[in-house]
Amino acid sequence: MLKNKEILLGITGGIAAYKSVLLLRKLTKAKANVNVIMTEHAKQFVGPLTFQTLSGNPVTSDLFTLFRSSEIGHVALADKADLLVIAPATANIIGKIANGIGDDFLTTMVMATTVPVLFAPSMNVHMYHSPIVQSNIEKLKSFGYFFIDPIEGELACKVDGKGRMAEVDDILEEIAILIHQKDLKNKKILITAGPTLEDIDPVRFISNNSSGKMGYALARMAIRRGAEVMLISGPSNLDIPYKAKAIKVRTADEMSEAVMKHYTNYDIIIKSAAVADFKTKSYSQHKIKKITDNLTIELTKNQDILKNLGSCKGDRLLVGFAAESENFIDNALGKLREKGVDLMVVNDISNKKIGFQSDYNECHLIFKDGSTRHIPFMDKDRVADDILDAIKSLI
Ligand code: CTP
Repeated sequence: MLKNKEILLGITGGIAAYKSVLLLRKLTKAKANVNVIMTEHAKQFVGPLTFQTLSGNPVTSDLFTLFRSSEIGHVALADKADLLVIAPATANIIGKIANGIGDDFLTTMVMATTVPVLFAPSMNVHMYHSPIVQSNIEKLKSFGYFFIDPIEGELACKVDGKGRMAEVDDILEEIAILIHQKDLKNKKILITAGPTLEDIDPVRFISNNSSGKMGYALARMAIRRGAEVMLISGPSNLDIPYKAKAIKVRTADEMSEAVMKHYTNYDIIIKSAAVADFKTKSYSQHKIKKITDNLTIELTKNQDILKNLGSCKGDRLLVGFAAESENFIDNALGKLREKGVDLMVVNDISNKKIGFQSDYNECHLIFKDGSTRHIPFMDKDRVADDILDAIKSLI
């Protein structure tokens, strides 16, 4: 996603500057080339050598630096970038830029660049809420600059409130969103993910091995591509993707209820959840005691959410997932026709390197006309991107 992207990381004089070390590390891990620009105040918090070592590029501060001996520094860097992120952005830098002051390398470069500029403000809660700072932020937003809001928490000044710099992972995701081509803009996508869990008694349940990783990757990538996403997720340890609307459910019945309540607001529905096929016929209010040698629990079929959607979806695009261990193309084509699905994503669950819990996947796409496409072994983000490409080709 950020591979070979040219990112400018502006650092100003706030205590959150130490978190920018982690941001830089994550950007370089994602294979972006990062050039760091520090204000003089920023150097009071973290030394330039740290950023220089981690970025592999010289850190710039001096306005009168020449880039590669003859190019004018702030212009040359601004020209070759994909995005400039200022994290942390103090009230001072926001105020200077909003009012046209260019008295150092960073402020001058903001004016010299045409690429997206993202500010991650960090300051005392009262400063953040002051009309001066707020009007400067509004002014910059009206000019097309981007902001990722600070979060609530204990601030360095020991006061609780909104002023902590946004989480590094969220800043990273916001950068990915800003850089990505918005080919799913104005599309509304509902995605189900994870397992469902069917209770037997207050301590036991039936579930399956789904981690939710594929559905969460689809949500993340769709958001990067400009879509509005609602994620309806069964129990999963994963964080809800940045900017996704989310509903957490437990059972197949709860998932069905949430899907049926919301699907009419969406153009595309992707059912990647591993819905439990059966639930117990009757739930035991008390813990079942082991007083017998054998125990029989009667199960009853859950409703098939995908099939229900297939019969009422109208002209919405419906994408199903099929987990198969044999004859997977034929079985999946059968499911596609039986459930009224437009596109089926088939996982071969006998392949231990992919699928449940894994960060990787390999699958086949089955289209309504019986044609198929193979998505090779890749990480789930890239598989999600290929699935979204196929969806895009159908809308
Ligand atoms: N699905 C569903 N509701 C269910 C069962 C499955 O919505 N009660 C959906 C899944 O989200 C998936 C698709 O149906 O998109 C196929 O699921 P899969 O488990 O492969 O197949 P099943 O239809 O359950 O059939 P079987 O288990 O017999 O293979």
